[in-house]
Amino acid sequence: MREEEMDLTVTLLSESFAESMMMASGYVKLLEFLVKNYLIERREMMPHNATLLGVYRENGEEDFELAGTVELTFDGKGANANPPTPTPPNNSPYICNMAVRKPLRRRGIGWHLLRAGEELITKMSSSREVYLHCRIIDEGPFNMYTKAGYSVVQTDSILTLLTLQRRRRLMRKELPTSEDASVVDAPPDDRLIDERL
Ligand SMILES: CC(C)(COP(=O)(O)OP(=O)(O)OC[C@H]1O[C@@H](n2cnc3c(N)ncnc32)[C@H](O)[C@@H]1OP(=O)(O)O)[C@@H](O)C(=O)NCCC(=O)NCCS
Repeated sequence: MREEEMDLTVTLLSESFAESMMMASGYVKLLEFLVKNYLIERREMMPHNATLLGVYRENGEEDFELAGTVELTFDGKGANANPPTPTPPNNSPYICNMAVRKPLRRRGIGWHLLRAGEELITKMSSSREVYLHCRIIDEGPFNMYTKAGYSVVQTDSILTLLTLQRRRRLMRKELPTSEDASVVDAPPDDRLIDERL
């Protein structure tokens, strides 16, 4: 994500958060303010982290649109000060804030973003164990992560519900070593997507 792409990314993430928290659309502006400040803070941690954007272009069209995003942490220096529970190891690569715009879902964009994220982690981090969180109620993302080779290492206690938060699963995948990095699993099909920093 370049600096000039931040506002579009803020809108995409805020809409996705509002959807997953079932918030009224009136709160999106507040969310946008919070998300923008978050992204500004996170950009200061580069190159220990990065935000990838996926863009989508219809066959034959010149114009493209922002389709999705994912945030990557490569090491402890880029880690979030207050990670969600169950807590991942501080020095391990971590994937979060994955979102695809609603009208563009189920076309393979999330899959490509995940694979692009894993490839970059393989290049940027010496650790091969990558972690991410997935809420128990989010079956779609859970299917995607399971299909991509992630497995559950820990689940939030039921007492988490007392904090008015959804229970999450911590998931982990062992990435191939960089020598094998070109052998990234094939996407579900050959749907077209550009991935760029
Ligand atoms: C999760 C998300 C990023 C997936 O993006 P996407 O571009 O729609 O995903 P893809 O089309 O690449 O799907 C890849 C695979 O994941 C699984 N999957 C994705 N969405 C699914 C859904 N709603 N229900 C069931 N399986 C789903 C499928 O196995 C799919 O492969 P298939 O289409 O060949 O069956 C998108 O749904 C999203 O932005 N959701 C809201 C935000 C969110 O929940 N983020 C994840 C936080 S943990």
